Amino acid sequence: MNILNIENLTFGYKNNDSHNLIIQDLSLKLDKNELISIVGGSGCGKSTLIKILAGIENEYGGTIFS
Ligand SMILES: Nc1ncnc2c1ncn2[C@@H]1O[C@H](COP(=O)(O)OP(=O)(O)O)[C@@H](O)[C@H]1O
Ligand SMILES: [Mg+2]
Repeated sequence: MNILNIENLTFGYKNNDSHNLIIQDLSLKLDKNELISIVGGSGCGKSTLIKILAGIENEYGGTIFS
C-alpha cells in the first residue's frame, strides 16, 4: 500500500533570479513500512523536497498524494 505518491514534481524558487529549476520531474512511491533515503550533493534540493512535503513550499508542479 502506497502511503506517499509523488508524480512529476517540479519546483523552482520564485525569488531565485537564475530561475533555475531545483526539482524537475521527480516521481517516487513510498510503501507502508518502507524506508528511503534522499541522497545528493549540497544544494541539489533535498531540503526543498522536505519543505514541499511539509507544506512549507506549496507552489509546485506535479502531484503529491497519500
Ligand atoms: N528560499 C530560497 N530561495 C531561493 N533559493 C533557495 C531557497 N532555499 C534554497 N534555495 C536554493 O535551492 C537549491 C536547493 O537547496 P536545498 O534544498 O537547501 O539543498 P540541499 O538540502 O540538497 O542541500 C540551492 O541552490 C539553494 O541555494
Ligand atoms: Mg539541506
